[in-house]
Amino acid sequence: MPHAPTRVPRPFPARAERPWPRVKQAAGRQQLAVARAQQRLRAPAGPHGGCCLGNCSRRGLDCRSRAPAALRGAAMSHLPDGERAPDGDIGPQEMVPSRKNVVLVDGVILNGPTTDAKAGEKFVEDACRLIMEEVVLKATDISEKVCEWRPPEELKQLLDLELRDVGEPHHRLLERCRDVIRYSVKTNHPRFFNQLYAGLDYYSLVARFMTEALNPSVYTYEVSPVFLLVEEAVLKKMIEFIGWKEGDGIFNPGGSVSNMYAMNLARYKYCPGIKEKGLSGLPRLILFTSVECHYSMKKSASFLGIGTENVRFVETDGRGKMIPEELERRVQEAKKEGAAPFLVCATSGTTVLGAFDPLDEIADICERHGLWLHVDASWGGSALMSRKHRRLLQGIHRADSVAWNPHKMLMAGIQCCAFLVKDKSDLLKRCYSANASYLFQQDKFYDVSYDTGDKSIQCSRRPDAFKFWMAWKALGTLGLEERVNRALALSRYLVEEIKKREGFKLLMEPEYANICFWYIPPSLRQMEEGPEFWAKLHLVAPAIKERMVKKGSLMLGYQPHRGRANFFRQVVISPQVSREDMDFLLDEIDLLGRGM
Ligand SMILES: Cc1ncc(COP(=O)(O)O)c(C=O)c1O
Repeated sequence: MPHAPTRVPRPFPARAERPWPRVKQAAGRQQLAVARAQQRLRAPAGPHGGCCLGNCSRRGLDCRSRAPAALRGAAMSHLPDGERAPDGDIGPQEMVPSRKNVVLVDGVILNGPTTDAKAGEKFVEDACRLIMEEVVLKATDISEKVCEWRPPEELKQLLDLELRDVGEPHHRLLERCRDVIRYSVKTNHPRFFNQLYAGLDYYSLVARFMTEALNPSVYTYEVSPVFLLVEEAVLKKMIEFIGWKEGDGIFNPGGSVSNMYAMNLARYKYCPGIKEKGLSGLPRLILFTSVECHYSMKKSASFLGIGTENVRFVETDGRGKMIPEELERRVQEAKKEGAAPFLVCATSGTTVLGAFDPLDEIADICERHGLWLHVDASWGGSALMSRKHRRLLQGIHRADSVAWNPHKMLMAGIQCCAFLVKDKSDLLKRCYSANASYLFQQDKFYDVSYDTGDKSIQCSRRPDAFKFWMAWKALGTLGLEERVNRALALSRYLVEEIKKREGFKLLMEPEYANICFWYIPPSLRQMEEGPEFWAKLHLVAPAIKERMVKKGSLMLGYQPHRGRANFFRQVVISPQVSREDMDFLLDEIDLLGRGM
């Protein structure tokens, strides 16, 4: 029985071994190359007229060299593989398989596809190998640098960023890829602690490769059947972990966007007419969040026309948690002003200190005043996976909505963020839908309740839930729980080491995986902790940061915070990180700062 040619595994076989016929195709190309060459010679002179009729950049040819170059290009395109360039290099040339009757429209040959699939496939294959060798295999190698720092002007030269008329050949493009990897920060390196994400999850990485290759858009079941069902399954499970019986949700591009979704949804619930009538005629809407909230609260308020002055920042205690009595006072104050309080945003896992607001007490206040409670658990939501640590979010089931980013501690890969809503009456859809009749037709042949795209503010949307689903499938709930437990255990280890070491000073006992501390260099150790001491200490963290980045040994963040001098914020996430990396971190900071 005849069968289709099988796909060839790596390494790419030599031409002679290839199981599919090439001769006829090459002959076809030759015919077309000749037809094209004749066509070009007949074509009028002009910016592209002499050679390519405007197709030069796609063909990788330089049309400014006119017909001879075009002819050379055409002649090149029918050469057998291995004879095109000394190294067998195939550029991204346009190629057309054999057709008897060439059809020309506006001087363009329409027969057959115009991409050279063979060259493209080879490029994908070689680039995948490069990614494997240079990114995946090196991700756990501590002898590699975290970053290969270059200042912007130097990096511009090294990268050759210019986009030219003529495309580059295969080997050059691979060099570009190599450069991109080389000069990018290795956020999957065991010593990258700079942000609230780190490490490499192999399973979500494969999911990312798959979705990049499949290129789906998650709005209708007809184009994304698998990914819509995956999203539904993941949302359902996350809702379960929050402790709601049922709910709704949507994956979206980030915790900031989730917070914006929440603000708008709470406002819609408060005054549904806003969708049609807009802001005019509304009372002065006020929302409350803590002084430690993420900056996206301010951005959302300004973006949604609420106004940053109408965000009331509630004071926190010494650990960065919202003080419920202060919230109560601010709500009453707003009411007395004749304003309309409508939303409280509590934070579970603040960005700098990793603090968790007392949700039960905040929920009591919201219930008393009829306010929507949104919990920004973008960072801390992952603690819900741990039976040991989920108490940090005690009371989260009382929230009306939650933002939770599996791309942070659960390492699902940027971006993977869920906005979850307790309401099951289609509030999300009513708030955001626009009923586009070309996309969300109601007379489709399947259950259109699976066309969930109209709940989103986006049209095209990536299947982000799939990354998390793959990791969850691979590790199981217990594996994800273990990931959280280990990150927090390593954080405890680091805290105890900091307490033991001379020259290190904790800002406070952390609740989560943000360990905030100062490094005090020898020259300041005997100095009294007065204004001069703090002014000098303020300069230490940025100077050490510069040294570590230039050396490429380590990356962690620093910041000033509410009147405090610059301090380091170490964030522990990845299971690829070990106790030894914690020790290295302290040794390295000491080494870099010892002479200060
Ligand atoms: C508490 C909190 N909320 C929201 C965000 C924003 O999340 P994203 O970066 O996904 O927009 C962050 C980011 O670190 C955060 O820490």
